Amino acid sequence: MERFVMKGGHPLSGDVVIGGAKNASLGVLAAAVMADEGCLIENMPDVRDTNVMLQAIEGIGGIVERIDAHTVRISGAAISKDNTIVDDEFIRKIRASYYLLGALLGKYKKAIVALPGGCDIGSRPIDQHIKGFTALGAKVSIGHGMITAEAERLVGAHIYMDVVSVGATINVMMAAALAEGRTIIENAAKEPHIVDVANFLNSMGANIKGAGTDVIRIKGVESFHGSNYAIIPDQIEAGTFMTLAAATRGDITVRNVIPKHLEAISAKLAEIGCTIHEYDDAVRVDARDRVLKNTQIKTLPYPGFPTDMQPQMAVVMALSEGTSIITESIFENRFRYVDELARMGAKIQVEGNTAIITGINGYTGADMVAPDLRAGAALVIAGLAADGYSAIENIELIQRGYEHFETKLQDLGAQISLVDNDKDEQKFKLKVV
Ligand code: EPZ
Repeated sequence: MERFVMKGGHPLSGDVVIGGAKNASLGVLAAAVMADEGCLIENMPDVRDTNVMLQAIEGIGGIVERIDAHTVRISGAAISKDNTIVDDEFIRKIRASYYLLGALLGKYKKAIVALPGGCDIGSRPIDQHIKGFTALGAKVSIGHGMITAEAERLVGAHIYMDVVSVGATINVMMAAALAEGRTIIENAAKEPHIVDVANFLNSMGANIKGAGTDVIRIKGVESFHGSNYAIIPDQIEAGTFMTLAAATRGDITVRNVIPKHLEAISAKLAEIGCTIHEYDDAVRVDARDRVLKNTQIKTLPYPGFPTDMQPQMAVVMALSEGTSIITESIFENRFRYVDELARMGAKIQVEGNTAIITGINGYTGADMVAPDLRAGAALVIAGLAADGYSAIENIELIQRGYEHFETKLQDLGAQISLVDNDKDEQKFKLKVV
């Protein structure tokens, strides 16, 4: 079985180029099938989740032409109204499968999509998606593991989201963009990927205003034309490398980023004692020889501290002096890394949605299992900060969202390797000293 093996305890330094945002690209790829012509999408991350989305698009008759690892041409023109059923063993595993529901419902007024899977980080209901589609005039039903949404016509509506949801905002925005008349989404999510999907829809001819604020106004149009579009940089991949600099007391510059998207992360790292330098499209985190101090974080929708950075930040907080506190307010099951970190010596006590972290001087290497994507990335950071060897299994979860993770880490000086058998793990251990 594939696993990461590593020997930690060294400061990691250098530059790392950040790829396109996974969560934006999942929305953009799904939205591309709504155009009557082909769309060229650039800066797409070549990770498992985006590849599953591309397979699903092919599965319903879309044409996917891979120009290179990060560029793809998608044409949904050949998809027929009678073939809007999205189901395969892979699509069931990704959360963003439901974006095809909004996209196909918007264009064909009918979609049947396997109920979404995704990381096991909480109950993850879809009531707000259903509420939005229903308000637009669709009939939505769930049965046999599938969601069906269909409508004679979709008509714009005034929709108030009861919870701030990234997925529901994107999904309802896509369907409403091809509905008749005007839609207002109130209490919308404001994440950078909402803005990115809205910009992409607008580039195809949609009329969406207000994305990035909590009120999105959409004037429906009849059809979309093709578009060339480049996806924004991945805020969470960037944040992951920023916390790596802090945890290993290194000095890392993340390049090809939008520093504004990273403000919540930069601010917390500065607060605990790192020096942050911001450039036009790069952020440098310098933690060399720093004594890190305790802090508190509460995960919140953007522009608050992202839940997708909570495990990585916890790894840093566990190495910071004093008592730190995390309040996870988005997903109830996002502390599954705590037992693994405890095996490395971390002192973390979880009570409900709160983690109380008592700082320690350093981790000791251990064998661990990645519980989900971001928690898995966090364990890699811990392993690279730890004294001695660590091994992490279940790395396919990490590969859902990080492209060439081990290569990028090696380029920063990390002693890490992807192996798939015990012999290679032994070889790695003999090689690194
Ligand atoms: C997106 O998930 C991301 N996934 C997640 O990324 C991220 O953690 C999350 O947004 C929050 O930022 C993708 O973009 C594919 P939500 P999503 O709907 O859309 C509740 C990663 O590591 N809710 O914003 O599923 C829900 O339970 C991941 O890349 C409802 O109650 O998240 C949660 O408490 C994993 N009803 C809150 O809203 C609904 O209908 C936010 O969820 C929908 C959501």
